[in-house]
Amino acid sequence: MYNPDEERYNKMLYKRCGNSGLKLPMVSLGLWHNFGDTGNYENMENMCFTAFDNGITHFDLANNYGPAPGSAEINFGKILKENFSAYRDELIISTKAGYTMWPGPYGDWGSRKYLIASLDQSLQRMKLDYVDIFYHHRMDPETPLEETMGALAQIVHSGKALYVGLSNYDGPTLEKATTILSDLRVPFIINQNRYSIFDRTIEKNGLNQKATELKKGIICFSPLAQGMLTDKYLEGIPEDSRIRTDGRFLKETTVNEKLDKVVALNKLAKKRGQTLAEMALAWVLKDDNITSVLIGASKPSQILENIKALENTSFTEEELIQIDNISL
Ligand SMILES: NC(=O)c1ccc[n+]([C@@H]2O[C@H](COP(=O)([O-])OP(=O)(O)OC[C@H]3O[C@@H](n4cnc5c(N)ncnc54)[C@H](OP(=O)(O)O)[C@@H]3O)[C@@H](O)[C@H]2O)c1
Repeated sequence: MYNPDEERYNKMLYKRCGNSGLKLPMVSLGLWHNFGDTGNYENMENMCFTAFDNGITHFDLANNYGPAPGSAEINFGKILKENFSAYRDELIISTKAGYTMWPGPYGDWGSRKYLIASLDQSLQRMKLDYVDIFYHHRMDPETPLEETMGALAQIVHSGKALYVGLSNYDGPTLEKATTILSDLRVPFIINQNRYSIFDRTIEKNGLNQKATELKKGIICFSPLAQGMLTDKYLEGIPEDSRIRTDGRFLKETTVNEKLDKVVALNKLAKKRGQTLAEMALAWVLKDDNITSVLIGASKPSQILENIKALENTSFTEEELIQIDNISL
């Protein structure tokens, strides 16, 4: 039987999500990879234990995480039921809908039909009555924003989610969505976007600035650029790396193109007394408007290393310039 570490809340820092009442751990765990049917169940359990033992209260999923789509939610639901049922009120569980989940016109994008059906399916897979945060996973250029936001409102008002979030939105769309959600009295509190030393999109598309202005939280996914911003690819492509175990999203060519930059960043991290993973996470967390970094992991030891980033999240001007010069 799993007994969480009683010291867990002394090992993590928590930050208020925008101006909401909700605090999130500054490091959150995402289940995009390694929790599907091709993963090892005991390893999944151990990663959840390591995370929670170290104060990571927030676990992030989506309807389509796997492979197969849906299997990460099924596996996580089993882990929850077998080990965490006494701790539901200590957990923030999020899921999303917005990418292709089932065939036909109702299993994708942002219609009311899709979002409401998808969350019902997610709850069944995880064996939960509600999720803490439900996200629309990506902007839908065809469905009226009012319809998508109306579906989020219905979801919250029916008690199936406590808060809502938007993922992969840009600044202008975020602003329009905020107005609609505020009129509908929906607790929209968080944006989930990709952000790392290698990907500055949210600085350019207005999301970062607009979310700050509107006092909404920002949780940053792929802060390690899927593992590139660690020391793992410095000497070739290890067999246990994402590239080898699941080559769908991170390609060997991308890693090779970035290798010189990774080597230079690794040197800088060493000078700061951090690993590259620690420095990359600290870099994302250095700004006040960032609520949490949403990491992935393939083994518990990575979670332990990554949490150490919190020990130093400040940078000198010179270090920031050096990072920009290397990476941009
Ligand atoms: N909203 C969206 O559209 C969206 C999109 C993508 C992701 N997300 C969310 O963000 C989460 C994180 O994304 P991500 O997995 O791409 O994040 P990431 O933290 O950039 O990459 C995680 C991967 O890097 C490697 N790694 C992690 N720590 C390491 C360490 N200390 N040393 C060496 N390697 C390390 C592991 O891969 P190896 O297998 O190589 O060990 C791990 O699976 C997802 O699980 C999901 O919840 C959301």
